Order: sequence, then structure tokens, then C-alpha cells
Amino acid sequence: MRPERTESRDANRARAENLGDSKVRAWDLPTRLFHWTLVALVANAWLTFRYSSEIGDPVLFWHRINGYAILVLIAWRLIWGLVGSSTARFSSFVQWPWRAAGYGLDLLRGRDRHFLGHNPLGSYMVLALLAAVAAQGATGLFAVEHNDIMAGPLYRLVAEDTWKWLTAWHTWFYYWVLLVFIGIHLTANVFYRVVKKDPLIEAMVTGVKPAAAYEDAPRAEISAGTGGRALVCLVIAAALVLGSIRMLGGRLL
Ligand code: HEM
Ligand code: HEM
Repeated sequence: MRPERTESRDANRARAENLGDSKVRAWDLPTRLFHWTLVALVANAWLTFRYSSEIGDPVLFWHRINGYAILVLIAWRLIWGLVGSSTARFSSFVQWPWRAAGYGLDLLRGRDRHFLGHNPLGSYMVLALLAAVAAQGATGLFAVEHNDIMAGPLYRLVAEDTWKWLTAWHTWFYYWVLLVFIGIHLTANVFYRVVKKDPLIEAMVTGVKPAAAYEDAPRAEISAGTGGRALVCLVIAAALVLGSIRMLGGRLL
């Protein structure tokens, strides 16, 4: 084990013990709201396509609105990764690949290492999920419904062969990439919760974790005014996504 890692772990343990609290803050409210809204909207994306006839929506109006909302959320998360609270920032959890590999090896050897935010391996899962959801939404912007009665707002920007390909991709990607990533994500979360007894699912709900000797930080730094800052970021994200579609000549509705 490298000496600086031992030192920082000892420092974190000392700080955690000094807090005297049994719980420390792990996630700010906007990050938690982002997560559970994303889960609901990804589920709703499937529902609004699968049951479009039953809800009298042959032009997939709700599916498209839902897709725009997902794209805005992803843009919001990218901005929040730069200006959000400490554990939400990319700089706090995106690690070099060899650190993720080292963490993975420790996991296989049964050596427990604890992180307050995303662990080095989990951080790659988070990036993969964000990228996959973004790719799903982006291909939707070019998708044309199989009966040709409606289309994503940007399909005219590309040749017919390309939008046909992107439409096929939109379907294929959902079942073979996004759902697979979500399956791995759920399996990993259940593994940590059940086998490692790490209350990480509760933490994504309540925002707190037991005080412990975490390697990354003893507690999250969440400043006053986080909610207001998150709302400003949401307005910027919506303007960026919807404004770009309009500027590219797409009709949103
Ligand atoms: C549509 C399904 C889902 C998607 C797309 C998804 C996506 C994500 C993303 C992007 C993050 C990173 C959060 C951030 O830093 O902003 C995350 C974290 C997390 N998700 Fe999900 N999620 C899904 C379903 C679930 C479900 C059903 C659960 C609960 C069983 C769950 C539990 C968690 C937990 C505990 C974390 C934090 C992991 C950690 O501590 O490193 N997710 N998820
Ligand atoms: C991350 C967001 C999105 C998800 C998870 C998603 C998911 C899906 C799914 C599961 C299907 C059905 C595939 C099938 O079984 O045939 C579908 C079809 C479709 N989606 Fe999306 N979608 C998203 C965003 C969008 C957006 C933003 C648009 C356009 C504004 C869009 C337009 C379409 C169209 C036109 C179809 C029909 C394609 C066909 O008939 O083959 N989607 N989407």
C-alpha cells in the first residue's frame, strides 16, 4: 500500500471520528432528484412507446416530450458535474483507469475499500450510463416512426439511409446497450447492499451515509444555496438542449 494513501485514509478516519456524528452527508438533494427523475423518465420512455395506442398517442407526443426531458436532465448533470456539490463533481470521482482496475482487483481479493461518493470502478459505470442515455436520446432526435406518421425533429438534417439506420439503432441500442447497462448497475448496487452491507441505495434516497473512514472524503461539502444554483443550471441545460434543436431547424412538437 502506498504511504500517501495510508496517510490520507488516517486523516479521513480522524476527521470522521472528530465529527462525533453517526451519519455524514453524501449526496446533495439535486443529485438525488436527478437520479430518481432519470429512473422514472427512462421507464416512462418505454411505457410511452409500448402503450402509445392505448393512451391515444399515435404520434408519440409523450415519448418525444419525455425524450427531451431526459436530454435536458443529462445536460443538467454535465453542468452539475462541474459546479455541483463535492461528491457530484466529476473531479471528485472520475479516476484514472488503472485506479479503477486496482479497485476491481482489491474487490476480487475481498479487500474492503470504502468510498463516500462513487467508487473508482462505479464511476466508470456512472459515465457509461450517462453516455448511453444521452446516445439513446440523441438517436431519437433522428428516428422516424415505422409508419412514417411522425419523426424526431432533426431527421431532415440527414440522408434517408442515415435516419433509417439511426431509427434501427434507437431501438437496438435500448434493448442491447441501455438495458444491459442498467442491469449491470442494478446487480452491482444489490451486490454492494446485500453482500458488502454498504447502504448505498439508502444514501441515494436520504443523502446520508454512516460516518466512516472513507478514502475519498469524510463528508460531502454541500453549500447553502445549492437548490438555487441547481435551478439556474436546469434553465441553462434546457436552453442549451431545446435551443440547439431549434437552431438546427428542428420543430420540437
Ligand atoms: C433507469 C434505471 C437507472 C439509471 C439510468 C440509473 C443511472 C444512474 C446514474 C447516472 C447514477 C450516477 C448518479 C450521479 O452521480 O449523478 C446512478 C447512481 C446510483 N444509482 Fe442508479 N440508475 C438507475 C436505476 C437505479 C435503481 C433502480 C437503483 C436502486 C436499486 C439505483 C441506485 C443507484 C445508486 C445507489 C447510485 C449511487 C452509486 C454509488 O454510491 O456510487 N439506480 N444511477
Ligand atoms: C433517452 C431517451 C429515450 C429513450 C430511452 C427512448 C426509448 C425508445 C424505445 C424503447 C423505443 C421503442 C423501440 C421498439 O421497441 O421498437 C423508441 C422508439 C422511438 N423513439 Fe425513442 N427514446 C428516447 C428518446 C427519444 C426522442 C428524444 C425522440 C424524438 C424526439 C424519440 C423518438 C422515437 C421514435 C420516432 C420511435 C419509433 C421508432 C420506430 O418506430 O421504430 N425517442 N424509443
